[in-house]
Amino acid sequence: MSSQDTLKKAAAKAAIELTLSRVCKSSIIGIGTGTTANFFIDLLADCHHNFLGTVASSKISEDRLRTNGIKVLDPNDVSELGVYVDGADEINSDLELIKGGGGALTWEKIISSMAREFLCIADDSKRVKSLGKFPLPIEVIPIARNKVARELIRLGANPRWRREFVTDNGNHIIDAHGLWPIESPSALEAEINQISGVVTNGIFANNSPDIVLIASPNQITTHIKRDNTSKLLL
Ligand code: A5P
Repeated sequence: MSSQDTLKKAAAKAAIELTLSRVCKSSIIGIGTGTTANFFIDLLADCHHNFLGTVASSKISEDRLRTNGIKVLDPNDVSELGVYVDGADEINSDLELIKGGGGALTWEKIISSMAREFLCIADDSKRVKSLGKFPLPIEVIPIARNKVARELIRLGANPRWRREFVTDNGNHIIDAHGLWPIESPSALEAEINQISGVVTNGIFANNSPDIVLIASPNQITTHIKRDNTSKLLL
């Protein structure tokens, strides 16, 4: 296993402990997408008697959960999730994220916003001072792809179509390069989402995680969102 994978697994293991301290037998857990979320899914298999089921943020995570013997529910049949656990592509010091490297950003945004707590897990390579070096993924309706790309150029981006990739919604992904440094992630998130033809973009600032667990070679550090300590039981 690469050293980065060892750290991802360590973060996932810490997230299992935190998650189990927050759920009961009737709880439903939201599950992210990506290699870090995969470690979480595999570790969760051993404790599936501690909660009722899961809701997945992609078809690929749904398949992995089922293969691990974990129950997967339709989000439409669920009113609230106890915890949502997912990785990230970039994390700044305000715990704002870029996500969507795996193309699952829209379901990730929906499912994370259904959870009482959003727990993000990552290795320390994901920490950045400013967001935007990682190209910002944007899910677009296929017929609007070039029109959205032109509007992104006006915002200063260099948009590239992620060819041969279709999202779980049947849409396309544009990766917006050249946005670094993103000075106001929440404003840019809202502005891009206003462009007609955009389904959503991969900035998670208006619904950022409540807790971030970062694994580095010697330790796991816990970062808690500044404005919501009241709801946390840490
Ligand atoms: C999936 O669409 C993404 O948002 C992932 O959560 C993110 O890219 C992190 O992926 P890794 O855990 O594979 O680094």
